[in-house]
Amino acid sequence: MENKIVLITGSSQGIGRAIALKLASEKAKVALNDIRSQEENLRKLKEEVRSLGTEVEYFFADVSNLDEIEKMVEKVKEKFGRLDVLVNNAGIAQDKTLAKMTKNEWQKVIDVNLTGVFNCTKASLPQIIQNQGKIINMSSVVGQKGNFGQTNYAAAKAGIIGFTKSLAKEVGRFGVTVNAIVPGFIETRLTKDLSPEIKLTVKKLTALGRLGQPEEVANLVAFLASEQAKFITGAVINIDGGLSI
Ligand SMILES: NC(=O)c1ccc[n+]([C@@H]2O[C@H](COP(=O)([O-])OP(=O)(O)OC[C@H]3O[C@@H](n4cnc5c(N)ncnc54)[C@H](OP(=O)(O)O)[C@@H]3O)[C@@H](O)[C@H]2O)c1
Repeated sequence: MENKIVLITGSSQGIGRAIALKLASEKAKVALNDIRSQEENLRKLKEEVRSLGTEVEYFFADVSNLDEIEKMVEKVKEKFGRLDVLVNNAGIAQDKTLAKMTKNEWQKVIDVNLTGVFNCTKASLPQIIQNQGKIINMSSVVGQKGNFGQTNYAAAKAGIIGFTKSLAKEVGRFGVTVNAIVPGFIETRLTKDLSPEIKLTVKKLTALGRLGQPEEVANLVAFLASEQAKFITGAVINIDGGLSI
C-alpha cells in the first residue's frame, strides 16, 4: 500500500478507525473523514496514524451532502495529489419498527448509508478511474437477512450490494474494482448498547460464538485494497463469524 492514497469515510471511531490504522501500518497515506462533532476523535487518530510513519489529514464532511463531499475530495487531491482507494464506511442506525418509524427516520438512514455511498463514489470516481483504483463499500448482514426494527438500515445496506455489483460492471473496463464487505455483529459503539439478551442471541446464532473485532474487518479491507485482490470485483464478502450460514 506504500504511497497509495486512501479516503475512509466515518473513520473517527469503530471499524473506520481500525481501517485507518491498518492501512497506515502498511504505509498508505490516509485521508480521514467524519462529521465535525467527531473532531476530538479525529485529532487523536491523526496523531496515532502519524506515529506509524505515514502522511495523514482529516476532513470534515457529511457524506449525505454532495456539495460538501465534492469539496472534500478536492481538498484530498490538493493535500495528497491523488486518490487511489475509497472506503465507503460511514453509517448510522435509527431503529424502530416500521409502524413507529417516521419519514425522517427512514430518510436520514437512507441518506447517510446509501446516498452517502453514491455521493462519495460520484465525487471520487474520476480520480479512481485515472489511477485504476479500488472502491470498498461497507454493507451489513442485515442487508441480506433483514432485522427486526431495521427496515431503513436493511434497505440501505441491501442497496449497497446492488450498487456495488452494478458499478463493478460499469468500471471494470478501466481496471477499477468495486467490492462490498458484509460484517456481522462487530464490537463498536453501534453495537455496544445492545441488551445482554440480544448479544447472547447473536452469539448463539454465530458459528464462532462471538462478536467480531473492528481490526478483523480492517484486515479484509486491507486485502481488498491491495494489489493481491486485483481480480476480485463485484464481490460481496461476508465477515460475520458464520452468522449468515
Ligand atoms: N458494528 C457493526 O456490528 C456493523 C455491522 C455491519 C455493518 N456495519 C457498518 O460498518 C460501518 C462502520 O460502523 P461502526 O460500527 O464502526 O460504526 P460507528 O462506530 O458508529 O462509526 C461510524 C462513523 O460514521 C460517522 N458518521 C455518521 N454519519 C456520518 C455522516 N453523515 N458523514 C460522515 N460520517 C458520518 C459516525 O459519526 P457519529 O458518531 O457522529 O454519528 C461514526 O464516527 C457502518 O457503515 C456500519 O453500518 C457495522
